[in-house]
Amino acid sequence: MSDIYFPPSLRGFEPRRMVFSTWVDHLPFAYDLVEALRPRMVVELGVYNGLSFFTFCQALEDFDVDAVAYAIDTWEGDAHTDSYDESIFRDVQAHAREHYRGFAYLLRMLFQEALPQFDDDSIGLLHIDGLHTYEAVREDFESWYPKVSPGGIVLFHDVMARLPEYGAWRYFEELMTSHPETFRFDHGFGLGVLRKPGGERPAHPLLDLLFASDDARQHKLRQFYAHAAHFLEARRQAARFRALRGQGAKGGQGKGQAAGNDEPGRGAAEG
Ligand SMILES: C[S@@+](CC[C@H](N)C(=O)[O-])C[C@H]1O[C@@H](n2cnc3c(N)ncnc32)[C@H](O)[C@@H]1O
Repeated sequence: MSDIYFPPSLRGFEPRRMVFSTWVDHLPFAYDLVEALRPRMVVELGVYNGLSFFTFCQALEDFDVDAVAYAIDTWEGDAHTDSYDESIFRDVQAHAREHYRGFAYLLRMLFQEALPQFDDDSIGLLHIDGLHTYEAVREDFESWYPKVSPGGIVLFHDVMARLPEYGAWRYFEELMTSHPETFRFDHGFGLGVLRKPGGERPAHPLLDLLFASDDARQHKLRQFYAHAAHFLEARRQAARFRALRGQGAKGGQGKGQAAGNDEPGRGAAEG
């Protein structure tokens, strides 16, 4: 196993999509995972405003992965998100068209309705982030798991959220006892990672760290991605501050003009 891993998210990853979502804590990992796995097909169950989905898409593009990505959602909301208005879907659609035309597709339907459109063993990266009751997460996993390719990865969001009616944490705990290759990030609302047995695990340090390292290294990996999320947020706050300072100086002494120029300026909306 490699001793040194320098994740690509450290080399100046700026999320092109930045909207409010608790998924923000896992963006650096999502970006690095796509680089490590190079999945030919990505499927997301539960997209909402697209923070996680568009991070996968950005990584597919940045790492030149020849892939298709499907975002599945009714865009009507569920018992945990509450219902939301049509502007969310329109904004996601516009972002997909502007940046990922040709490989990112939005399937506006129930997960179960989309299921027959996918072949068995075809999905390299599946992200389960729909309704978070125990029953719903189990149903999503059990119905979609056959579609995942051997060696493919399944991500589960909210596996640390102990909120009323949330059961993703309990279901993922069960999966950790029944599946040989799993990993859990505990920061934020938690992210579960499960590798479907079979296939050949690509020789990549991130995959080694996730599934074949000792407790001490796994602990460090958890710490690293918790810090990476804080670091990303701190950088964004600093950029926001510089931009605000730039705006405040308009018509004033002109000093803010230059200060505002290095704002990344890629966030479509702020959270
Ligand atoms: C927690 S949000 C997704 C968050 C998103 N991944 C992010 O990055 O912030 C859950 C979404 O799942 C959708 N959803 C829940 N159950 C669904 C189902 N059975 N079929 C289609 N969409 C569903 C809801 O409409 C909602 O937009």
